[in-house]
Parts: sequence; structure tokens; C-alpha cells
Amino acid sequence: MTDQKTSRSLPLSEAITISAQAIGEVMAGRSLTEVLEQLDAHERPIVQSLTFDALRKWVRSHDLIKQFIPKAPPPEVEYVLSVAIALFLQGGSEGKGYAAHTIVDQAVKACSEYEPTMYAKGLVNAVLRKVSLAIQAENEKPYPPDPIPMFFPPWWRASLKRNYSKVWQAMLIQQGQRAPLILRVNAQQHTRQEYQDLLQQAGINAEPIYELAGISLDSALLLREPVPVSELPGFYSGAVSVQDAGAQIAAALLNPKPGERVLDACAAPGGKTAHLLELASCEMIALELDGERLGKIGGNLDRLRLQSDAVQVVRGDASKATWWDGKLFDKILLDAPCSASGIVARHPDIPFLRREADIKALQLRQQAILEQAWKMLKPGGALLYVTCSIFPEEGKDQAAWFATVHADALRLSAPGQILPAELNDGFYYALFEKNGS
Ligand SMILES: C[S@@+](CC[C@H](N)C(=O)[O-])C[C@H]1O[C@@H](n2cnc3c(N)ncnc32)[C@H](O)[C@@H]1O
Repeated sequence: MTDQKTSRSLPLSEAITISAQAIGEVMAGRSLTEVLEQLDAHERPIVQSLTFDALRKWVRSHDLIKQFIPKAPPPEVEYVLSVAIALFLQGGSEGKGYAAHTIVDQAVKACSEYEPTMYAKGLVNAVLRKVSLAIQAENEKPYPPDPIPMFFPPWWRASLKRNYSKVWQAMLIQQGQRAPLILRVNAQQHTRQEYQDLLQQAGINAEPIYELAGISLDSALLLREPVPVSELPGFYSGAVSVQDAGAQIAAALLNPKPGERVLDACAAPGGKTAHLLELASCEMIALELDGERLGKIGGNLDRLRLQSDAVQVVRGDASKATWWDGKLFDKILLDAPCSASGIVARHPDIPFLRREADIKALQLRQQAILEQAWKMLKPGGALLYVTCSIFPEEGKDQAAWFATVHADALRLSAPGQILPAELNDGFYYALFEKNGS
């Protein structure tokens, strides 16, 4: 998910109220993507911007709240304060900034629904006035206590510290930054240069991303200034998709050829399925366990004009063979369910949702899917294992385990662990060829 330009069509007080409620849903364990999808189109951009910023500044805003109210405020008030404080810290939404008194007034108004109303309003007013002054004072004298303003659970920080002793802090700081908008040009419709020209004509600046982790990317364009997809030329007729550069490596590595039989074993919402089909008209099975997410694959393929008789979108469990007709595949993409710890810059709710025990459970699911997928691969065929994780348990440990238990698995060159950086999310890639022909 990419930060979108905010719109001021929604009054700020309403946007703060809805954002505070969205944060409440995340704290109750719901994915922010799902919560945002249920909003009206005119609400979504500003609510997304406010909630993302609030989650990215969580540690920082809570340090400030604690300074001025020793006893934790009621959750509704806490979430309103988090949104408003993130606005102060950002210099305002849209980077242009709301005046401090506007943020205070609108946050107070946002408390109109909370009981007892006068108490909530009084508390928000008093705390925000003090926080605003404290932030101004800190701007003169930078605030150092925790260089990572975003919340990451202690087990998460400890794991990264253990595994990436030199860069773990820089990584977590990076993941708290706004992610750029990256596009994938549909090679069936335009070359990258053609589409860059179309953007230019529409007044949108874009730069090619030529390679990542040693893999050349032919379709990636970076927009440093994000725009809503509705402003991208030809978006609705499939000229282009939004996809991180790290994710665009998958299709390039699997290198599909026309007519090959390909399985995308964990396909929804279909970003990588579509990329594979943009590169070659292969015989594709896009498999997905989750019925709701399955619908998104068809929607994406329709928009990109990639549907054909050779493409089947199938609901099924990749760790079982119940859906399979027994015909082996030339190539398999296994973009496994994982912690999503590599894509926090685009999904800042993830550190709030994951539990330590999830990692072991995910590892077992990944292994079950790997085992089944390998049985469906032709001798001489290739399997690409991908996760958007930075935990070795879901990346290099899995690849090492797999190579140990499968004597017929030959490891081919692949980037391995890609760490989150300014232009890409974090991913793990391992490529295996099945011995024999
Ligand atoms: C990382 S996402 C895939 C993203 C997708 N490849 C893309 O690029 O748009 C993993 C997907 O695997 C699905 N999934 C989880 N367990 C599965 C299973 N046993 N069989 C098939 N799909 C599964 C999840 O519902 C989720 O949609």
C-alpha cells in the first residue's frame, strides 16, 4: 500500500475521528488494509495518511502523552491524541502543515462522540497545547531517547538486533518512512519509455529503476511525488500497476516463456501473477486459499486485459493436492504467507498485529506448501520461493532446510535476503531447479 496524496474534502475533525476509530480496529487485531477498504473513496486518502503517520510515530507520540498525563487516557482519547501529535510531528498533513491551533481545535472537535464529552475534549485540549509547545522546544534541541519513533514489539527488535547487528536500527528507521510510489508498466501495452513519456505529458515526473539486487528490472518506474492511481494515464485500461520494486524481481527471476505451464501457488491479490502474464502468455493456474482475496486476482487480471482461456484462477490449498489435475508444472512461484515484516513501510499496522508465536506457525505452513509444490514440479523445472519477510526463519533458514531435505533440489542464483531500503521493501528470494529431465 502506498501513501496517497491527502484530500481536504473531508473536514479534518471528521478525518481524525475516523482515523482514531481505524487505529482502534488495528489495536483489536484487524488489518488496516481491510479497515481502509471499507471507507468511502473520499475518506480513504486522508484517513490513510493520518493513520499511517500516527502508527509510524507511535513510540514518539506516546512518550509525549506520558509526559503530560501520567495515567493512561481512555483508548478513544489516546488514538485521537496519537493522530494529532503525528500531525504536529509531520509539520501537518500533506507536508504543508496545519497550524498548531487548527490541529488542537479539530482534535478537540473530533472528541464530540466520546463520553464524557467535556472530559475528553478538556483532556485533548490541555495535552495537545502542552505537546505542541514541547515539540517546538525540541525542534531547537533534537529529541534523542529512542531513535526509532515507530512501535516494534520487543521480540521483533531483539530478532533484528541478533540477525542484523550493524544495520538493524537503520532498517527500522527506514521502515518508519513514507514509501515511494513505484509502478510496473504492463509490457503487453507499453514499453517503460513509452509510459514514462505518457506520464511526462500528464505532468507527472517518473524515473526508471533499472535494477535491484543484481536483477534487471524492465518495467519499474519511481514516482517520488505520489499521485492517486486515477491520475495515472491508462490505469483503468491496464497500462500500469502499483508494485514495489522488490516484488518486481519475482517475475524476472522465474522468467516465464510462452506456453509454459506455470503455477502461482499463493496468488492473491495477483500482482505477481499479472506480472508473469505480462512477460509471457503462459498456461497459468493462480491458486489462492482465501475466497475473498481470490476475487481480487480476477479483478486485477481483467483490468490489465490478461484474462484468457489459458489462465485459471482456482480456490485451493497449496499444501494439498485436492485441487490439482496431476499435470506437472514447468515453473512454480511460491510467494508464501509470511509475517510481512519486510513491507512495514507500506503497512505500518503489521508490527502491532504480529505475535512472536506467529513466526513458528508460519514457518510450518511455508514448509508444508514447499513440500507439496515440489511434488507438482516437472524434472528440470524451477521453483521460486519468496517471502516479504526479513526474519531468517522465513527466508534463508527455510531455503537451507529445503536444500537439505531434497537431494534433487539444485540451488540457482537468486538475491537471497533483500533488506528494506529507500526504493524497495524487504524480500527473500530462493530459486531451485529440480534435477533430472
Ligand atoms: C504474500 S501473499 C501473495 C501475494 C501475491 N503473490 C501478489 O504478488 O499479489 C500470500 C497469499 O497466500 C495465500 N495463502 C495462504 N495460505 C495458502 C495456502 N495454503 N494455499 C494457497 N494460498 C495460501 C494468502 O491468502 C495470501 O493471499
